[in-house]
Amino acid sequence: MRRPIIAGNWKLNKTIDQALDFVVELQSLVDGTGDVEVVVAPAFTALSAVANALNNSSIGVSAQDLYWENSGAFTGEISAEMIVDSGCSYVIVGHSERRQFFGETNQSVNQKVKAALEGGLVPIVCVGEMLEDRESGKTKKVVTNQLVDGIDGLSKTDILRTIIAYEPVWAIGTGKTASPDQAQEVHSLIRSVIATSYSDQIAESVRIQYGGSVNPSNAAELLSKPDVDGALVGGASLDADSFAEIVRASHQ
Ligand code: PGA
Repeated sequence: MRRPIIAGNWKLNKTIDQALDFVVELQSLVDGTGDVEVVVAPAFTALSAVANALNNSSIGVSAQDLYWENSGAFTGEISAEMIVDSGCSYVIVGHSERRQFFGETNQSVNQKVKAALEGGLVPIVCVGEMLEDRESGKTKKVVTNQLVDGIDGLSKTDILRTIIAYEPVWAIGTGKTASPDQAQEVHSLIRSVIATSYSDQIAESVRIQYGGSVNPSNAAELLSKPDVDGALVGGASLDADSFAEIVRASHQ
């Protein structure tokens, strides 16, 4: 049985005070939901404060990106060690916004995934096709390439610690969610790619989140699909009530 994981990607939102107010409210709504793993991903500036505030809570904290070097002349970058030092256990890698706006490639994603695992973080590795890929029938090819390149060289232990997030780019922040069947189709493809590279047993254990306009009204149906093990939530994770509703939807 794969434990559902619901993560809130706050993107470029919330100051430290706003983040702290939010987690106080969130804790009152979702803490103790032991069968669901709940994670929030604040901006770098709020990581430490949020991690401290959630120290005795079941809610985990994630960074939204990292760099693969541990230290050196890399202005503006943050290492896995620094993220761990700020109290986080997870890091999102290869989000489509990083790929689209900040030049992230499958190769840089792979370097970051390896650095995250080496540093002791759980990477949440994002893959997903653009609208034109889907419309030209390239979804499987694009997602397979992103996945195969992104997890290249990972050991069995590493892949078992890794979380994959399928996020069709056309569904992110657009209000257009993939239908539960569209999500299931790609999640099952992702599982079969992992089975081919590792084994059926390993593929059955790896958790695959869906992301892209998940909200309280569509979450339950998406999460009811057999290969959908959770959600990576953007917009709807900025409001504690709607994020908590999505967490509750994953109990079913
Ligand atoms: P969204 O974002 O829920 O606002 O579509 C999802 C994501 O980017 O992870």
